[in-house]
Amino acid sequence: MADRIVSPKTSDDEGKFELSLRPKRLAEYIGQDKIKQNLAILLEAAKARGEAIDHVLLYGPPGLGKTTLANIIANEMSVAIKTTSGPAIERPGDLAAILTNLRAGDVLFIDEVHRLARPVEEVLYPAMEDFQLDIIIGKGPSARSIRLKMPRFTLIGATTRYAMMSAPLRDRFGAIYRLDYYDQAAMETIVHRSAGILNVPIDESGVKEIATRARGTPRVANRLLRRVRDYAQVRADGAITAHVAQDALKLLEVDALGLDEIDRKVLRTIIEKFEGGPVGLETIAASISEEADTIMDVYEPYLLQLGFLDRTSRGRVATRRAYEHLGIKYPDTGQERLL
Ligand SMILES: Nc1ncnc2c1ncn2[C@@H]1O[C@H](COP(=O)(O)OP(=O)(O)OP(=O)(O)O)[C@@H](O)[C@H]1O
Ligand SMILES: [Mg+2]
Repeated sequence: MADRIVSPKTSDDEGKFELSLRPKRLAEYIGQDKIKQNLAILLEAAKARGEAIDHVLLYGPPGLGKTTLANIIANEMSVAIKTTSGPAIERPGDLAAILTNLRAGDVLFIDEVHRLARPVEEVLYPAMEDFQLDIIIGKGPSARSIRLKMPRFTLIGATTRYAMMSAPLRDRFGAIYRLDYYDQAAMETIVHRSAGILNVPIDESGVKEIATRARGTPRVANRLLRRVRDYAQVRADGAITAHVAQDALKLLEVDALGLDEIDRKVLRTIIEKFEGGPVGLETIAASISEEADTIMDVYEPYLLQLGFLDRTSRGRVATRRAYEHLGIKYPDTGQERLL
């Protein structure tokens, strides 16, 4: 998993690149136009009133720019941002400590917000709603609850698992935005921008080639760009063309649509072992020795997006396009397979 080149998740050495490539202002943030428009209004209205903006929930697959957007929001509001994550806040007291350290207008960014412990969530509700903190002092019969007023702040939550969030928590966000995979044009602009920042010579055809194989995911685009840059430096004259990109990505086993060995294995398993499906997620997971959760979070979203996989009530089904991509003959039953 860790060295999977097309993984949308951050790898260990990626931190410093992410920082340098991360857009700082809304105007620099490419694509996601609907979100940008709505956010621009939210920001402008709040600024005009001199208030903190509403709590914002950002959800969508990994690597699409949720953390980036959270930082942009704080930047545009000229406020400080404090970053933490659901699993890092173990006890209600931990959250209370974070909240009491916020200043008026500050942004609290909670990544993986679906993983907050329930007792922690319960402290968050009145804080989000009324900017009040209910703290229990003492234990047993002598325990009593005191209520602290806190400054207005903005909570930004991010999650890849919207469905796993509790309804009461979701309901307390004033603005909820779903990030989607980027289209080809946006991906090309992102590759262009990153190549400029990294100072890599690249031509139009090279930009296109990398953009096409980056799974609609900026983080993957940036990673492919860096690996192709290495290849261009060692095996070519340093400049990235379509040809150089193709050779480099072939070596990395990333195919024309950005699928790697594991993606193809998932599809092949469904097609060859289970006659194209429907087959349950757990069954697929067992036969390729992966966790069902990993398949659902990491592999499946992009395969669904490509239209290679269908999710039905009876399980996953490989589509005709998946067969064609793998060069396997689609079983001809005289009619389309019933899904
Ligand atoms: N709209 C964008 N324009 C340009 N670059 C972007 C954009 N969105 C994301 N990126 C780039 O992609 C990288 C990954 O984005 P980010 O870390 O914000 O993703 P994420 O959604 O928070 O991922 P995760 O779910 O893994 O936390 C960033 O370093 C940034 O360089
Ligand atoms: Mg993030």
